[in-house]
Amino acid sequence: MDSYISDLRAVTQMGLDINIFRMNRLGIPQDRIANRLGLIRTSLHHHLSKMPVLANSTNTDLSRGFTVSQVAEKHNWTEPMVWSLALEDKEDIVRFKKLGWGLRTWDQWGWNDCDKRFGDDWPGRIPAQLIAHILFYFSKQNDLILDPMAGGGVTPDTCLALNRRCWTFDMSDRPETRPEIEPYTWTLSSSQELSWPVSSKGKADLIIFDPPYFDKKAGDYDKNSISGLPKKEYLE
Ligand SMILES: C[S@@+](CC[C@H](N)C(=O)[O-])C[C@H]1O[C@@H](n2cnc3c(N)ncnc32)[C@H](O)[C@@H]1O
Repeated sequence: MDSYISDLRAVTQMGLDINIFRMNRLGIPQDRIANRLGLIRTSLHHHLSKMPVLANSTNTDLSRGFTVSQVAEKHNWTEPMVWSLALEDKEDIVRFKKLGWGLRTWDQWGWNDCDKRFGDDWPGRIPAQLIAHILFYFSKQNDLILDPMAGGGVTPDTCLALNRRCWTFDMSDRPETRPEIEPYTWTLSSSQELSWPVSSKGKADLIIFDPPYFDKKAGDYDKNSISGLPKKEYLE
């Protein structure tokens, strides 16, 4: 029983470390990480100090020739997190090549399908290839990207692979699988102004805004989604 409980504790701890690792790599400030994961700051610092060890064991497997998907499966990481290590210090163009995407001219974008390695199965999921091209042409590494309606998480996943910081929000809250998407419901106040989920001195370098396509998928989203609003209010 003792060893069962300690195994269980180790798995939970590992899950927590992986979440911290992901949020930290996306450039989410430490107070927000601690708040989101229910940790006190000193405990977060303790976890953060373990990050290089986590990265080392993954890097060792990569250097032994295991593929990104094998390493992800072995360490219980998501593929985009392993890509973020596997592609460290690489230029964007090399990253595209390694990810198997190739680069298309800016007005000729079209893909057959979503790249299943990035984001979750989600109504209105956007292809990671599209996000990657937007990031390539309109931002640079380490820039801060904001996705206010991040849904299945394609934007943060792609940002991990292309080394962009990324803050994401959505009304749908999935703390276990998507802690980096902070829960927030955008509403217009009576003065028609937006209220903001976080205060920050810095500004985003690029905003990727992928709202619901009016009422097309309304049935698949929360009843408070803007897709349920009358058209005039939806547009506002
Ligand atoms: C088209 S989906 C985004 C899909 C995402 N880009 C992806 O690839 O998975 C639109 C998202 O807007 C969110 N949403 C709708 N109304 C919202 C609101 N008022 N505040 C926050 N999120 C909202 C929905 O929950 C949904 O996840």
